[in-house]
Amino acid sequence: TVEVPSLSKVYEEYFNIGAAVNLTTIKSQKDLLRKHFNSITAENDMKFIEIQPAEGKFTFEKADQLAAFAKEHGMKMRGHTLVWHNQTPEWVFQNADRETLLQRMKNHITTVMQRYKGTIFCWDVVNEAVTDEGPELLRSTKWLEIIGEDYIEKAFEFAHEADPDALLFYNDYNESNPEKREKIFKLVKSLVDKGVPIHGVGLQAHWNLVNPSLEDIRTAIERYVSLGLKLHLTELDVSVFNFEDKRTDLTEPTHEMLELQAERYHQVFQLLRQYQNHITSVTFWGAADDYTWLSDFPVRGRKNWPFLFDENHQPKESFWKVVHY
Ligand code: G3I
Repeated sequence: TVEVPSLSKVYEEYFNIGAAVNLTTIKSQKDLLRKHFNSITAENDMKFIEIQPAEGKFTFEKADQLAAFAKEHGMKMRGHTLVWHNQTPEWVFQNADRETLLQRMKNHITTVMQRYKGTIFCWDVVNEAVTDEGPELLRSTKWLEIIGEDYIEKAFEFAHEADPDALLFYNDYNESNPEKREKIFKLVKSLVDKGVPIHGVGLQAHWNLVNPSLEDIRTAIERYVSLGLKLHLTELDVSVFNFEDKRTDLTEPTHEMLELQAERYHQVFQLLRQYQNHITSVTFWGAADDYTWLSDFPVRGRKNWPFLFDENHQPKESFWKVVHY
């Protein structure tokens, strides 16, 4: 039998290797997580709706268990996420004028960040604020509508006050798409220019076998790096289905998919290693193919196989291409 090296040990000199987890996977994937990953992110359990479902009613039970898992196994933890249009309860925006909503935002950020001070080294303070389409820069959300454009800088200021040691990130998807990339760049640059306490850009990196192109990924990295900020890949996965592939009947990935995926991971990590002075963390949005949010997206119930480890937690060809470079 071949010895399987630890992914995070192989990448020790480059960046942290993280995985998104939940209360089920910290049990079902425990051995895999302990061996190959040195950082975790809560997939859902630290989102607004999970932590403060009703005003002033903080429910930290699930989040605490994940934080305890990280501590117990000497892993780092990324915080996800404080201000987002999704998974935020209705009450937050109800009967809210600018001042009320800012107060609610501040109270949430302060309470959550202070609780995990020292455990969570880095937060996705604002998530997905940039719009994908049209000439507008910002996504139209309740945060924007009620507070105004400065809701983003306010969130970073509250976060910095709550935990001055935490690294504060702006996190988004389609981050390598040329148009969206320029919008994200523009937003983040304006924050930097204003002296807002922001330390990094999170590239979610929900990719597939061909999109985005390696060149677009490289250009995006270069562009964000030019702002003098740290970069994290925060939600990496490589779907085996390309955009136009609508098949729903596969019960296992084809040989061709796995070959292409291995080559894709090989190229992606080769690129990431070239930016080791800037990219300090690479987190997968899961750990192994037995559980991925993609198995429900964009087609409900369609299985996907986006990771380096298969459904039995065995290393795939993709894994070997990433560790043997
Ligand atoms: O909370 C209910 C639960 O009570 C119920 O039992 C369950 C049954 O379906 O549904 C639960 O809510 C689901 C939630 O995950 C928790 O499991 C939602 O329906 C489902 O939509 C939600 O999906 C999450 C999604 O964010 C929501 O936007 C995914 O698990 C999570 O992987 C995904 O993560 C996001 C990042 O936060 C931001 N970037 C994109 C990424 C992928 O969409």
